[in-house]
Amino acid sequence: NGLDTPTTVHWHGVRIDNRMDGVAHLTQPPVAPGESFDYRFTVPDAGTFWYHPHVHGSGPQVARGLYGLLIVEETDTVDVDHDIPLVFDDWRVDDNGQIDTASFGNLHDAAHAGRLGNILTINGKFDGTVRARAGERLRLRIASTCNARVLQLDFSALDPWLVAVDGQPVSPARLEPAALELGPGQRVDLIADLDGEPGSRLVVAETSGEPFEAMAFELSGDPGKPVRKETPPALPANPVRIPDGKPQRTVDLVMAGGAMSFIPEAVYKGQTYDGRTLAMDHGMVWAFNGTAGMPEKPFLSASAGEPVAIRLVNETLWPHAMHLHGHHFVELDGSGAPSRVLRDTILVAPREEKTIALVADNPGRWMLHCHMLEHQASGMETWFEVLT
Ligand code: C2O
Ligand code: CU
Repeated sequence: NGLDTPTTVHWHGVRIDNRMDGVAHLTQPPVAPGESFDYRFTVPDAGTFWYHPHVHGSGPQVARGLYGLLIVEETDTVDVDHDIPLVFDDWRVDDNGQIDTASFGNLHDAAHAGRLGNILTINGKFDGTVRARAGERLRLRIASTCNARVLQLDFSALDPWLVAVDGQPVSPARLEPAALELGPGQRVDLIADLDGEPGSRLVVAETSGEPFEAMAFELSGDPGKPVRKETPPALPANPVRIPDGKPQRTVDLVMAGGAMSFIPEAVYKGQTYDGRTLAMDHGMVWAFNGTAGMPEKPFLSASAGEPVAIRLVNETLWPHAMHLHGHHFVELDGSGAPSRVLRDTILVAPREEKTIALVADNPGRWMLHCHMLEHQASGMETWFEVLT
C-alpha cells in the first residue's frame, strides 16, 4: 500500500476464496500505509471482472482512479478480430480541471444519487475513439467504474450481440434495446460486426443526462472485409450453479432512507438512533432491514450448497446497484422461475422489488451492498454467511 490511507483490493465478480475477497474488517484487516498483503487465488470463471479497494471510505480511492479490469481468458480462443476493453468512468472535476476533492464525503450527494461526475472517460482517456476496419468483428468488454452514475449507452449504431453479463456468458442475442443501462460495477461483453462504409464513424451516445457523444468507432478508408453476419457462438459456460426452481427459503432485504424518504430511526453499531442524529452525527442516511452500516449479525446464514432467494425491496426513491460478493445470482420472475442471466450486481429501481436466487456454495462471510459507493458509505451495506 503506497497510499497514505488504509486500503485493500477486492476482486469484483470473482467467485474467490473468502480470505482473498479484500473486504476490510470482514475478510481481512485493512492494509496500513506502507504495509502489504499478498492476494493469491484461483479464478474459477473466464470473463470480464474488475478490482478496486474495499475499505470504509473506498469511494474517494475509486473516484481517483484506483481500480483496474481483470480479464480471465477462455481456454479456447474466441473468433473475433479485436478484443477491446472499454472502461467507462465519470469523474467530478472542479473549475481547474482537478479532481474535486472538496466534495468527498458530501452528505447531500450521499442522500441523493451519490457522487456523480461531470466528465466521462473511456480507459482513462477523454477520447475513446476506437479505430478498426469495416467488416471486422469486435468483442467489447464494457465496464462501469463510476462511483454512482447509472450509464445509459446507446449502442444502436453497432447493433451488437450481448454475449456476457457481469463476466458470465449468456446465449448470444441482439442487444435489446440497444440502449445499455449499466450501473456502477456492472460489466457486459458485446460482439459487434463493424457494418459501415469505409471511412465512416459509428457513434455511441451517453444519454443519462443531456445526450452527448461518448465515443466512436472510426472505420479506416480501406475496403475492409465482408461482414461475418452469422450470430457468434456462445462463450463457454462457467461452472456456476443455478437454483433449479424457486428456493425454499426467501429472505427479505428492505432498503430505506435517502432524500425525500429519510429513515425515522435505525440501528447503527448496535444502538438505535433517530434519523437526524444518524445523519448529523454519523453520516448515515440509508438502512437495510432497519440497520445503517454493517450489522453485527449476518442478515442471512446459509448452509453449504443451500439454494436461497433474497427479495430486494427498494422502499427508497432512488435506484440502487446491489452487489453480492463471492457468488453470482439469477433473478426470479413473478412466478418464481429463474432467469438464465447470471449477475453479481443488479439495479433495483425506486419503489421496485426484485427477487434474486443463488446456490450458496462458497463458504465464508460475504457482503451485499449498494455499489453507489456514497450510498454504501452512508448505510447501504450488510453481509451474509455461508457455512462450511
Ligand atoms: Cu465492487 Cu463490494 O464491491
Ligand atoms: Cu444505492
